Amino acid sequence: MDSWQALKSECAACRGCSLCKTRHSLVFGVGDEQAEVMFIGEGPGEQEDLKGEPFVGPAGKLLDDMLKMIDLERSRVYIANIVKCRPPGNRDPQNIEQDACRGWLDRQIALVNPKIIVCLGRISAKALIDPDFRITREHGVWYEFDGRRFMATYHPSALLRDVSKRPEAFMDLRSLRKEIRAVCDSVYL
Ligand code: URA
Repeated sequence: MDSWQALKSECAACRGCSLCKTRHSLVFGVGDEQAEVMFIGEGPGEQEDLKGEPFVGPAGKLLDDMLKMIDLERSRVYIANIVKCRPPGNRDPQNIEQDACRGWLDRQIALVNPKIIVCLGRISAKALIDPDFRITREHGVWYEFDGRRFMATYHPSALLRDVSKRPEAFMDLRSLRKEIRAVCDSVYL
């Protein structure tokens, strides 16, 4: 049986790719370890690297606002990233880095055992839904794998750069709220 304690300490000791050499902190994940809804971003940015927590910089502030729009509290969901160490200069994590980190995420997902996984952005959707995922065409579409519901929406950083995408992201959030009401027991208690 896996445990959070084993996972966290093994992950902290990981030297599976070179990102650990340039990071300040491991950004493991945060939130309710028994959440029914899990959000998965791409990788830590500068603020996250300094604080050791995902989505605490400008994109995180917008994520919090997005959650509030559908009455979701950050503390009731679990938030993680595809890679746990900051790629230098906020570049996209390379496939070799994503692959090296994947086992940690798979173990987090298995321990949280969420009913719904929301991929934040293209990199997360490609890793978790389909390597050919096109975020502009397929955001807001629901998929099912291993008894879990998956949906991708725009990354909050993309919504900060291009506000014209926000109405579409809002529709995705409304769809998420509907799905939560349909399949989750406790999120909106
Ligand atoms: N962007 C991400 O994908 N993850 C974070 O934790 C912060 C910004």
